[in-house]
Amino acid sequence: MWRTLLELWRAPFNAASFLIRSRLRWRRGTPPLPNEPKEALFDYLPPEQAQRCEQREKELRQRYRLETLHTASRRADYRENLYVLDALASVGDAIAATLPERVRVLDVGSKNFAYAYALERFFTWHGAAQPRTVEVDGVEIDGYGIYDNLHSRADYAHAHAERAGAGRVRYHVLDVLDWHRRPYEAITWFYPFLTRYPLLVWGLPLRHYRPRALLAHVLSLLAPNGVLVSLHQTSLERDRMRALLAEHDLAPTAVVPVRSRLVRHWRAGEDRWLLVTRRPAALPTDTER
Ligand SMILES: C[S@@+](CC[C@H](N)C(=O)[O-])C[C@H]1O[C@@H](n2cnc3c(N)ncnc32)[C@H](O)[C@@H]1O
Repeated sequence: MWRTLLELWRAPFNAASFLIRSRLRWRRGTPPLPNEPKEALFDYLPPEQAQRCEQREKELRQRYRLETLHTASRRADYRENLYVLDALASVGDAIAATLPERVRVLDVGSKNFAYAYALERFFTWHGAAQPRTVEVDGVEIDGYGIYDNLHSRADYAHAHAERAGAGRVRYHVLDVLDWHRRPYEAITWFYPFLTRYPLLVWGLPLRHYRPRALLAHVLSLLAPNGVLVSLHQTSLERDRMRALLAEHDLAPTAVVPVRSRLVRHWRAGEDRWLLVTRRPAALPTDTER
């Protein structure tokens, strides 16, 4: 009931505010990304759990060569990158099994792209004797939200992309339905909106609630045998994604819970799920397009 009320109230508000920021396209320039000390990084956890996380942080830092990020990032951003790497590493071999030496990655709905570094590092190093050459395109429909310091989401996203790989990691403010570059060997899609409520809470107009069309389009951008890696906030959303995939005769090759405590808000993500889905050489739906 209260969700319906919220939808009634938020929908016109979102439509108006999204229109204004999309027209304004606010940029104040690329901001500096200051460093913060990394001591007691997991001080929000009881000591024993914090110690386990410290250990995991060291493993991830070594395995994915995170030294530069470790010495030049805010604590929250560093933790976000660790969290993404921890989740990807839990099914790393399933994702990286068929990656070529040159990998093109698309990230859908990149927010401020604070985790761009984790994506670049994972695809460069996971299961590779020699580093792969990785290019990452992050596509975000709502890139012009403005922070308290008058920098926009796009300002930060460009700064994060540059730190992750100047020229090779790029951020684009666009509806992914209007993005036609292809093919990608891997597509990451973290927390797609598979119900209306989170889309409204994130400030988008209801007309952008199109999970079926988005999935069909995202699959069409994948190379044959390419891999779609999706993260989901709840088991309900996980099941919705599986049902949508089934419409393309696809089933994930891996479905795993994400139990990482490497971010402060880990409790809010206790029912998170990661799905790995491989696109066959031809999709049954290809012929219909
Ligand atoms: C729940 S947020 C997840 C953000 C980010 N991927 C993360 O892991 O924190 C979903 C993001 O997808 C973006 N989005 C939704 N629909 C989109 C579309 N059609 N094209 C591009 N981005 C979209 C939203 O604006 C939002 O930033």
